[in-house]
Amino acid sequence: MAKVLISAKLDASGPEALRAYEGIEVEEIAPLNGAELIDKLQGSAGLIVRSESKVTAEVIEKCPDLKVIGRAGTGYDNIDAKAAAAKDIAVLIAPGGNTVTTAEHTLALMFALARHIPQANRKLVGGEWDRGFKGIELTGKTLGVVGLGNIGAVVAERAHGLHMKVIGYDPVIDEERAKEIGVDLLPLDDVIKQADIITVHTPMLPETKHIIGKQAFENCKPGMRLINCARGGLVDEAALLEALENGKCGGAALDVYEKEPPEKGSPLVNHPKVVCTPHLGASTFDAQVKVAEIICSNVGNFLTGKDYIGRVN
Ligand code: NAD
Ligand code: MLT
Repeated sequence: MAKVLISAKLDASGPEALRAYEGIEVEEIAPLNGAELIDKLQGSAGLIVRSESKVTAEVIEKCPDLKVIGRAGTGYDNIDAKAAAAKDIAVLIAPGGNTVTTAEHTLALMFALARHIPQANRKLVGGEWDRGFKGIELTGKTLGVVGLGNIGAVVAERAHGLHMKVIGYDPVIDEERAKEIGVDLLPLDDVIKQADIITVHTPMLPETKHIIGKQAFENCKPGMRLINCARGGLVDEAALLEALENGKCGGAALDVYEKEPPEKGSPLVNHPKVVCTPHLGASTFDAQVKVAEIICSNVGNFLTGKDYIGRVN
């Protein structure tokens, strides 16, 4: 029997599919970290997490039975994939499972940002009838997409339906792919200079840390609006706060933060020009069924010698 520990709340369809494999035993727990996770993982060949459990080099070192780590999602920056590779432990993700859902959340945030919807809603609920909110039209505006992988590409495609001009930066995709998704591929500096709205969709890597930072806010169009539905560390929050204060940034929509959850009373979360959600990008019934099913069958297939997808190390 190979044991798989699920240290996350997954849609029930995933664990159910995993239990159907012969020779696999499944235990589901609330997300654990550190010594508690190490303790619970002893004897497990598989581990499945979302973003709450941090699978550090120490966890990997101290769990000698581990053969595969599954991430019920796409961003695996909470897993030390290099340390896992050194021990020949596979790290698998659920590619595509939450792509459309996260792209739709990005668009929802773009509309909310453009029309001050949360701010106006708060006032009305508080008893104030304030018709002074003035937004912007999206039609005709230039959207800059930084990172044109699965999610960035869907955002770009949908933005055409809104009659936006779409420009973007991604060091990996080629002109042919950019053409397919209707994006003018430009150097990052040009995207920053030309976009009315910038949305980031890269993985969190050493080279993408603070990809939108002080310099970007200095070079951007005055009043540029920013959306981050990818990873907190991609945007330098101190620089963003300064840019919101001096007007260089006209507003920001955030789903992810450098520290999650952010401090209570965080000046960024409470800023009048900020629209924010608590890392809900992938949180639809549809996406959660898909990622749970993809990752559980991936891990089940891996442990029973069948074909699997989405190995990242
Ligand atoms: P993906 O791997 O399909 O795409 C990432 C793209 O970023 C790739 O095309 C890659 O070439 C590009 N890239 C890499 N380095 C870059 C750089 N320096 N500059 C510009 N582009 C660069 O990933 P995805 O599924 O589209 O996910 C994108 C991001 O969204 C990830 O950070 C992921 O963790 C995050 N995410 C967040 C949520 C959420 O709940 N908010 C949900 C899903 C994914
Ligand atoms: C991801 O990278 O897939 C997201 O952060 C969503 C999640 O944590 O489930």
